[in-house]
Amino acid sequence: MTVLLAVVFTVVAWLTTFQLREYMQGGLDDKLHGAAMASLNGPGGGPAGDGGGLGHPHGGSGAVTVVLNADGSVRYSGIDSFNSQSLTGAEITALEATPVSGEASTVDLPTLGEYRVLSMPPGPEGPGAGRAIVGLPESTVTGPIDNLIATEAVLGVAAMFLVGFAGFALVRVSLRPLDRVAATAARIAKEPLDRGEVGRLARVPTVDTDPRTESGLVGAALNRMIDHVSAALEARHASETRVRQFVADASHELRTPLASIKGYAELTRRSKETVPPDTAYALGRVESEATRMTALVEDLLLLARLDAGRELDREPVDLAPLVVDAVRDAHAAVPDHKWEVRLPDDPEAGAEVTGDEHRLHQVLVNLLANAGKHTPPGTVVTASLAVENGHALLTVADDGPGIPPDLLPTVFERFARGDTSRARAVGSTGERSTGPGSTGLGLAIVAAVVASHGGDVRVTSVPGETVFAVRLPLA
Ligand SMILES: Nc1ncnc2c1ncn2[C@@H]1O[C@H](COP(=O)(O)OP(=O)(O)O)[C@@H](O)[C@H]1O
Ligand SMILES: [Mg+2]
Repeated sequence: MTVLLAVVFTVVAWLTTFQLREYMQGGLDDKLHGAAMASLNGPGGGPAGDGGGLGHPHGGSGAVTVVLNADGSVRYSGIDSFNSQSLTGAEITALEATPVSGEASTVDLPTLGEYRVLSMPPGPEGPGAGRAIVGLPESTVTGPIDNLIATEAVLGVAAMFLVGFAGFALVRVSLRPLDRVAATAARIAKEPLDRGEVGRLARVPTVDTDPRTESGLVGAALNRMIDHVSAALEARHASETRVRQFVADASHELRTPLASIKGYAELTRRSKETVPPDTAYALGRVESEATRMTALVEDLLLLARLDAGRELDREPVDLAPLVVDAVRDAHAAVPDHKWEVRLPDDPEAGAEVTGDEHRLHQVLVNLLANAGKHTPPGTVVTASLAVENGHALLTVADDGPGIPPDLLPTVFERFARGDTSRARAVGSTGERSTGPGSTGLGLAIVAAVVASHGGDVRVTSVPGETVFAVRLPLA
């Protein structure tokens, strides 16, 4: 706006100044003509008139007159000035040099400055009449013009500042609704939309959705978009909930028949009647696979419940006895490993967290089971508990062969299992290479439980040192 104004203002100012200058110069030239005629014809060639208002404010017009005789000698010279100066020789010479054309021209006179000068040719009386050279100060034109230009410049700059500031303020005020629209968009951008149930999203306030204004149009369009996104998120949540519910129901429904299969297989195996070795073997397999499937179903059910955000218990849990118990159980289950426990030196510095004791126990059981199951006999497994800046740090470390590097990045994902040819459970009993109860869900459960307690779990693994570190916020 300011630049546009500057351009328009400059063009208008230039045009008016040019017009005025032309007009005033025309007037000056007319006056020169009159004065020259008077000097030529008047008795004795007296000084040119006052110039009818163009003259000096204190009386003299500043008009210069030189009247030459026919032989070229100066008959009269003088300045019509209030302190009646006379012309110097140099000035007379300069004036004499003006071409006799009947047209006015501008001459720079020494000490007097710029003059509009007219050199009148000899009149109709013949060459004897001599020549008259008359000049009027150019300042009668340039003065007012300079004033005009100065005024225009000052006004122009002032107008530009005014328009600049006023325009800025106006634009800011009129775009304020757009700021509010942007704020709404920014608020939504901060919401976690990627999972779970998304609550009511912010909307642009009704005042900013007036379709008669540009910002209102944007606001209304944004609201429509938020409606769409909201509906889509609700649909996604509903479908996720359905799938979870289905998995939970399916797992739940599978528990009973699995328990029956296991029960009957066990019953048959233990019956007094001798069965052929093939049948005994088959029954053993049925039993162990049923056990494996039960573990899988239990894990699936647990994960589905964790996914559904099923309410966890929120009670104080002291981690130290939990660790001791879990390691004792692991030792009993896998006696050919060395099991160690490290608790904080100061028993008073309790590592108490708020959460679900049962689930936290599950975390420890899963980590310790992995350290027992995926490592060879003789492996040293160390479970330690420490407290550091507001967090309980639970680590399970073993000096086994480690997690295969290609599995490591996805080890917490569901059904991520390694090639466990090194695992202790391989072979002899003919189980699948992943061993009994291996579901690939153990670490996924660990991650889900820890996350639902507001903590995090990390793993580092190289051959000889595998460390799972769980951080939980203290109560
Ligand atoms: N302490 C460990 N040492 C070596 N490998 C491990 C260890 N813990 C986990 N793993 C690897 O990570 C995989 C995923 O573990 P997990 O989710 O508990 O499934 P699962 O134990 O049922 O196989 C395991 O199959 C195993 O290959
Ligand atoms: Mg496991």
